[in-house]
Amino acid sequence: MKYNVAVISGDGIGPEIVEEAKKVLSKVEQVFGHTFAYEPVLMGGASIDVHGVPLTDEAIAVCQSKDAVLMGSIGGNTATSPWYQLPPEKRPEAGLLKLRKALNLFANLRPAYLYEELKEACPLKDEIIGEGFDMVIMRELTGGLYFGERKTIEEHGVRKAYDSLTYDEKEIRRIAKRGFEIAMKRRKKVTSVDKANVLDSSRLWRTIVEEVAEDYPEVSYEHMLVDNCAMQLVKNPGQFDVILTENMFGDILSDEASMVTGSIGMLSSASLNETKFGLYEPSGGSAPDIAGQNIANPIATILSAAMMLRYSFDLDQEADAVENAVKQVLKDGYRTIDIMSEDCTQVKTSQMGDLIAERIHK
Ligand code: IPM
Ligand code: MN
Repeated sequence: MKYNVAVISGDGIGPEIVEEAKKVLSKVEQVFGHTFAYEPVLMGGASIDVHGVPLTDEAIAVCQSKDAVLMGSIGGNTATSPWYQLPPEKRPEAGLLKLRKALNLFANLRPAYLYEELKEACPLKDEIIGEGFDMVIMRELTGGLYFGERKTIEEHGVRKAYDSLTYDEKEIRRIAKRGFEIAMKRRKKVTSVDKANVLDSSRLWRTIVEEVAEDYPEVSYEHMLVDNCAMQLVKNPGQFDVILTENMFGDILSDEASMVTGSIGMLSSASLNETKFGLYEPSGGSAPDIAGQNIANPIATILSAAMMLRYSFDLDQEADAVENAVKQVLKDGYRTIDIMSEDCTQVKTSQMGDLIAERIHK
């Protein structure tokens, strides 16, 4: 079958890591007899440089016309890049937020899994790692603080800034359902994370999650305050199966969860709407400090491409083949610099892509 994919390489290490994901996908084409047709789309700094804005309406339309979007990363060094001299709505990140909203990508899935082979890279003590961990963060992606009203004003000579955190029950219900549904396919446990001891939005979140939970009697669920969750992630990460949370908490907790797996360069993500359409990107950023050196870890992007095969194209066997190839390459002792450990062979970005592609088979 033929699948149409918009490709946003983006900024920093984006183009390098996306190239490797395409390399692996082209092996999937050969082995399984599919066709992936790509159309490049500019977003972030790359779009600012050409069009003066981080995302054009034409770019959104191209993404909408495809089966899925594969993305690298966007943004530059916030201290030195001229992109950050622009007003906030013209900076690279604004493009990503606009795209998430325009495509209604409200459900962001970020799996955090500790590979046996990467235990060395995990900063936690052996007794905390225990049997390892395998969780997925289900982050609400189109509401909350990210999309609430905001402004900066001056009142009697004093500068003042507002950001508002709003959720309605429909927004909470649809993400909660997604969280419980994914839990049904896993270990059937949901930890809903909020700050209900302080925030009204969190109290509504809790109420709605409880209502949704009634439809999933097989799933055990608990509520956890976000500050406690931050602590539990480094105290006992093995307790989590599905973490269900709002936009801002999910942003912070997913970086933390990624770090306990050893490297943010390993973490994939999928942003989904109500249909099969999705945007797939590594959880990490554009890492401008290492861009262009062929040393970035492409695995998160390759695993994001595997998620695209699974969630948007229903190609489970092909997705398994990619995930198994990643496991095999780690077993075979190949590492990029971020996950390097003793007795392993250090490889460049492009070599990692070759080695994973070689290991794709039926
Ligand atoms: C992420 C990123 C984005 C976010 C930024 C780039 C706007 O940190 O995908 O986690 O905060 O959502
Ligand atoms: Mn983030």
